[in-house]
Amino acid sequence: MRLGVLLLVGLVSLAACRQRVPVSRADYRARIMALKLPDEFKPSAALYSARCSTCHGPRAVGSVRGPRLIHTMYHKKYHDDSVFARAVRLGVHGHHWGFGDMPAAGDLSDDDVADITIYIRWLQYQVGIR
Ligand code: HEC
Repeated sequence: MRLGVLLLVGLVSLAACRQRVPVSRADYRARIMALKLPDEFKPSAALYSARCSTCHGPRAVGSVRGPRLIHTMYHKKYHDDSVFARAVRLGVHGHHWGFGDMPAAGDLSDDDVADITIYIRWLQYQVGIR
């Protein structure tokens, strides 16, 4: 009996954990597009839209020209903020996907890139990439 209760508690908490981490691309996309953007992120979101969204898609959900950055692979553990800064300053040779290279955007200031990165981290956080 006690074992049964323990098992049930275990299963319920497992289900709760699973719920927090969406798995399908459609799920990420829908949740991200529905997010209400706090005012503080509006300037960085506008900068992101002007300079990154042609390839990384609206709210970094990806496009035919570049990968979505709201992806566990771009978690700060694997691609930390310095990688974001380097990618923008120097460009990226295509290596993870088949999209080709990312050109440098060296005219963006360090502050601009930091703001864009914080915005992308916020989006990641909202869907459980934290
Ligand atoms: C012209 C298209 C294009 C634009 C514009 C663009 N990117 Fe990229 N980006 C790519 C592609 C393609 C890749 C994937 C390269 C690979 O790993 O195959 C990429 C990869 C990245 C990576 C991962 C770097 C790594 O080391 O793996 C980061 C971070 C990134 N982009 C951030 C940005 C930010 C921030 C902006 C806007 C300032 C931006 N990108 C604008 C095409 C673009």
